[in-house]
Amino acid sequence: MTSLANFATYALHGLPAEMAHRIAVSALAAGLGPRAATDPPALSVKLWGLTLPNPIGIAAGFDKDAEAYAGLLRAGAGFVEVGTVTPRPQAGNPRPRLFRLPADGAVINRMGFNNRGMAAMAQRLAGRDRSAGIVGVNIGRNKDGDDSDYKTCFKILAPLADYITVNVSSPNTSGLRESQGRDALSALIESLQEVRTRLGLTLPLLVKIAPDLTNEQRQDIADVALSSGLDGLVISNTTIARADTLQSRARSEQGGLSGRPLLAPSTALLAEMHQLTEAKLPLIGTGGIASAGDARAKIAAGATLVQLYTALAYRGPRLIREIKRGLATA
Ligand SMILES: Cc1cc2nc3c(=O)[nH]c(=O)nc-3n(C[C@H](O)[C@H](O)[C@H](O)COP(=O)(O)O)c2cc1C
Repeated sequence: MTSLANFATYALHGLPAEMAHRIAVSALAAGLGPRAATDPPALSVKLWGLTLPNPIGIAAGFDKDAEAYAGLLRAGAGFVEVGTVTPRPQAGNPRPRLFRLPADGAVINRMGFNNRGMAAMAQRLAGRDRSAGIVGVNIGRNKDGDDSDYKTCFKILAPLADYITVNVSSPNTSGLRESQGRDALSALIESLQEVRTRLGLTLPLLVKIAPDLTNEQRQDIADVALSSGLDGLVISNTTIARADTLQSRARSEQGGLSGRPLLAPSTALLAEMHQLTEAKLPLIGTGGIASAGDARAKIAAGATLVQLYTALAYRGPRLIREIKRGLATA
C-alpha cells in the first residue's frame, strides 16, 4: 500500500462522507486496495469449524452489497460481514444521511438499509472463492416489510455465506429493534433454524444487538440465546444515545452514533452479555475500536472476534495492519 492508499485516505476526507465511502468501496472492488502480508500463525482463530487468519473483521454496513469483500480480505481483514441486505432493493433515507463528527472520532448515520437487494447480493457471492476468506451475511428487513423478510433472505443467502447475522438492532428502520424482545426474538431464531435444517446447512446463526437495551432486555436476550442454541452475538450496533461530551456540530443529527464514544458502552455491554450467557457463546465485539489496545479490551471483555467500521473509514486499511501488529506483539 502504502503511500498511495494513505494519500487517498486523506484526499477523501475533503469529500462528503457518503461520496468518500462510495469511492473507497469502488476502489477496493476494482482491486486498487493494498495487499497484506500473510498473518503470523499466532493471530489465527478457530471458531464454528472455520479457521480465520486473524480476529479483525469488517463490520456490517461497510460493504452493503458485497462488492468489496475480496479487496477487504486482501487488505488483511480476517473476515468481512456484508449487508445489511433486504429481500427487495431499497434506496434508504434521503441524503444527507451520513455525518462525520471528527472532533469526537465518531460518525452518525441514518442510511436506512440502502442496498440492491438479496438477488443482487446472491449473484455477487455465487461462485466466490471460499478459500480466499470468511464472509458473513447480515440480513434485515425492508422498510415496509416484516419479520418474514429474514427468512426470505436466509433461504437465498445462507447457502452462499460462512455465517448469517440477524440484524434486529439498526435504529434506522422503524420497529426493527422490537424484534429484540423475548418472544419475537425466540420465534425469529427458531424459524431461521428450521430453514437451516430444511436446507441441510449447518452454518452459524448470530444476532446483532443494540447498545440501548434495558437490563430486562439484556437478560431476555441472554436467556433466549442460550435456550435456542444460537451460535453467537454481535455486540453492538450504533447507539441512539448522545453523550454530553460530544463536540462536533453534527452531534444532534438523528441516527446511530458509532466510533470512539461507543467504545465504552459497547464494551460494557459485551462484558455483561458474556457474563449473562455464562461464557458459553462466541461473541463478536464491535464499537469504537481504533487501536490494538481497544481490540484487546474487547477480547478481555469476552469477544472471540472483533469488527471495525468508523475508525477504518477515518484511517483507511493501514489500521487493520496496525491493530494486527499490536495484537501479535502483545
Ligand atoms: C455508515 C454506517 C452504516 C452502517 N450500516 C450497518 C448495517 O447496514 N447493518 C449493521 O448491522 N450495522 C451497520 N452499521 C453499524 C456497524 O456495523 C457497527 O456495528 C458500528 O458502527 C460500531 O462499530 P464502529 O464504532 O467501529 O463503527 C453501520 C455503521 C455505519 C457507520
